[in-house]
Amino acid sequence: MTYSVEWRGDRVRMLDQSKLPQEERYDELTESDDVAAAIRDMRVRGAPAIGVAAAYGVALAALHADRLGPSLRAPHIEMAIATLAQTRPTAVNLFAALERMRAVLRQSSPADLSRALTEEALRIHREEIDASAAISTYGASLIPPNATVLTHCNAGMIATAAHGTALGAIVEAHRQGKVTRVIATETRPLLQGARLTIWELVNAGVPATLITDSMVCHVMQTMHVDCVIVGADRIAANGDVANKIGTCGIAMLARAHHIPFYVAAPTSTVDLSVRTGAGITIEQRSPDEVTSFAGRRVATAGPDVLNPAFDVTPHRCVAAIVTERGIITAPYIRGLKECAGHAGEGGK
Ligand code: MRU
Repeated sequence: MTYSVEWRGDRVRMLDQSKLPQEERYDELTESDDVAAAIRDMRVRGAPAIGVAAAYGVALAALHADRLGPSLRAPHIEMAIATLAQTRPTAVNLFAALERMRAVLRQSSPADLSRALTEEALRIHREEIDASAAISTYGASLIPPNATVLTHCNAGMIATAAHGTALGAIVEAHRQGKVTRVIATETRPLLQGARLTIWELVNAGVPATLITDSMVCHVMQTMHVDCVIVGADRIAANGDVANKIGTCGIAMLARAHHIPFYVAAPTSTVDLSVRTGAGITIEQRSPDEVTSFAGRRVATAGPDVLNPAFDVTPHRCVAAIVTERGIITAPYIRGLKECAGHAGEGGK
């Protein structure tokens, strides 16, 4: 199986998600700064995939550091970690991965840095692969037979460099013969649903229906939707969930229509150091993404523009959080602590 992000001995091979679905292009990166740029420009995106890519970025910096004098190696790698940490602020997987890499950096001798850091990056990736496989199985168990499932943004293979979380559960449930239809929102402004989720569903042979974000209420009123499943970028200790902008509205609509709203995410996405969603930094992105559509300007020049990339769904709207260690229901404060007690020390 090939993943959207992979270590190739002395380079990172990465699917350029910004080109999909028109072009399936893989880039080979040999510089840590290039990995940082790929995360910043969202050529690699999705919380777990960002964490994996950043870890490999540090491994690249360590390979370069081998050519420096022993005393210069750790500072060179620390600088790479600092650059990677500046790329995107919301997905905690990025900071959790960098924190693990920094811990290995501090424990290793200068002669051993590139080996130790490469091994840790590969371990982080392996853990995400195993986690998403378990999440897919647990998540599929929540999906009833003959189900219509709605999802938002993209929490699939490409977003995780593994099997996918929310989309992994949907694909697994389809494999078990339980999914009749998947409704995917287009996910304005960057169209992760239209460009990426639909691409993954079609590739997996899952019947997919694309809607615009503004159609969700109408679809819930007029069609039978059995459940909503989404991924997450950061989950606070009380179960509040930061995910792609628009998620909170969908969760509230699901609640109003008595449709269970599930979140599927690895424990690397849980941040116990943030008590509630109010403490999560929300990335603000360029106004151009809103004033344009598919690269073409659609709004007249001059308006004020808001472009928060994420929102926070209150835990009371979440029917369950599916992790690799099991399915957690309210009260989340206890369940998340039991499942993810080790996670989330990095990031702030
Ligand atoms: O801005 P993006 O595309 O990186 O946002 C991604 C999401 O919001 C995903 O739903 C989330 O990271 C989960 S990916 C398994």
